[in-house]
Amino acid sequence: MIVAIDGPAASGKGTLGKRVAAHYGLPHLDTGLLYRAVARDALTQGVDLDDAEAAAKVASALDVATLGDPALRTVGAGESASRVARHPAVRTVLLAYQRSFAYGPEGAVLDGRDIGTVICPDADVKLFVSASPEVRALRRFLELTGRGVAVSEASVLADIRARDERDSTRGAAPLVRAPDAALLDTTNLDIDAAFRAAIDLIEAAM
Ligand code: C5P
Repeated sequence: MIVAIDGPAASGKGTLGKRVAAHYGLPHLDTGLLYRAVARDALTQGVDLDDAEAAAKVASALDVATLGDPALRTVGAGESASRVARHPAVRTVLLAYQRSFAYGPEGAVLDGRDIGTVICPDADVKLFVSASPEVRALRRFLELTGRGVAVSEASVLADIRARDERDSTRGAAPLVRAPDAALLDTTNLDIDAAFRAAIDLIEAAM
């Protein structure tokens, strides 16, 4: 079974992906980490994030064993990730790894921006997770301050709006809901309620 979960920044898709995967005993891939890691490696090597060809070369050399790096979870890493994610050449390099992960023997749960549209258009279940920008900003703000990161809620909201804009308006694999994806709006749901709603949608789609 392949479950594709897409949605904007801080919509809760990552947490949902993890819980859905654990529930069905499936491997889980947070695909945002791939773009975050490419941006990290590019910056470490002094590569310009806007240089598509150089960024694609960095993507080809990506070591997926480094995806657990806590430095990938920062606000800056997300911002840099969305810059390298605009390049079709980078996306093409990362597509192969995502497909091989998805089409493994047991299936998988993948979350990102283009899983239901580009990576696994024939996924068994597609969810599009969304929430209002204000609610997403508040969640991200609480998560960051809970980890001791000093940020303002206003700056988190501005970052989320900027990333939404960049991810939805880019030419290559923009963030859009696949026509056959079930919409899960988590604006008024806590994580447990969102998880139950996700399982209901998955069971209904199977
Ligand atoms: O989901 P996360 O916030 O970790 O993603 C970081 C950035 O990586 C996103 O803002 C987006 O630009 C890019 N991304 C993407 N396609 C995916 C996953 C992430 O373009 N499947």
